[in-house]
Amino acid sequence: MSCPDSDRDAPGVGEGLRIPMHVGVTMDGNGRWAVARGKPRTEGHREGIRALRRLVEYAIRYGVRYLTVYSFSSENWRRPKSEIEFIFNLMKRFVETDLQKLHKNDVRIRILGERHTLEPGLQGIIDRVETVTRSNRGLNLNVAFNYGGRSEIVAAARQIAHRVAAGEIRAEDVDEKTFSDSLFTAGIPDPDLLIRTGGEQRTSNFLVWQGAYSELVFQDVLWPDFNEDDFVAALQVFSGRQRRFGGVEAAQ
Ligand code: IPE
Ligand code: IPE
Ligand code: MG
Repeated sequence: MSCPDSDRDAPGVGEGLRIPMHVGVTMDGNGRWAVARGKPRTEGHREGIRALRRLVEYAIRYGVRYLTVYSFSSENWRRPKSEIEFIFNLMKRFVETDLQKLHKNDVRIRILGERHTLEPGLQGIIDRVETVTRSNRGLNLNVAFNYGGRSEIVAAARQIAHRVAAGEIRAEDVDEKTFSDSLFTAGIPDPDLLIRTGGEQRTSNFLVWQGAYSELVFQDVLWPDFNEDDFVAALQVFSGRQRRFGGVEAAQ
């Protein structure tokens, strides 16, 4: 669980801002961005990848340690097959072609989500990218792909039940840490700030367990238009928030 000192004041760029240790972003609004321009929805996804590249730069520039982006939910399978295929191809290319550059920048990449149902080619790319960047010490970039918060919790419960049945642990000893350690995000601190673009004010199944005490910032900007000003605006809102974690304000 995040503790109050998980974020810090920024030195240099972003001075005066409190920089969250872990930022999660729901990159929403690609389809509407395209439709507003008379283009097919897929063009919004293509442009959305450019915005994602920019976001990674901002995270590095402002000293965010962990960045988790929501790029395809387990519920997005309800979309037309052609749109799903397009998103998968974009994702494949992002992981393949951006790898070199991100690896050079010391970025460690992890993919969060159900990967065993993905086609073997994509699974191979994902395994490779995680292995190659494993010992990098720069930004931790987590890509939530084929990810759903509820199914992540159910999978953790199933895994823990198996361990209890096998006599590895006792049911009485199952606690929040047992759960945290069984999620895709094992070892990663909880997000301090969750940003959602596109104007909707809901989580849509993103980091359901991990986001229990995250600060939520909703922005109207459609994802492909997201720029540094929007990123800084979210950090400013975060900087003004009082985090209490269920406690009371510290005495002045
Ligand atoms: C987010 O943009 C990308 C994915 C969910 C894959 P959308 O495609 O949801 O765009 P809108 O919300 O329909 O505009
Ligand atoms: C959330 O956006 C998922 C991603 C951005 C990947 P959606 O567009 O799928 O969410 P809903 O359908 O508006 O809740
Ligand atoms: Mg959407």
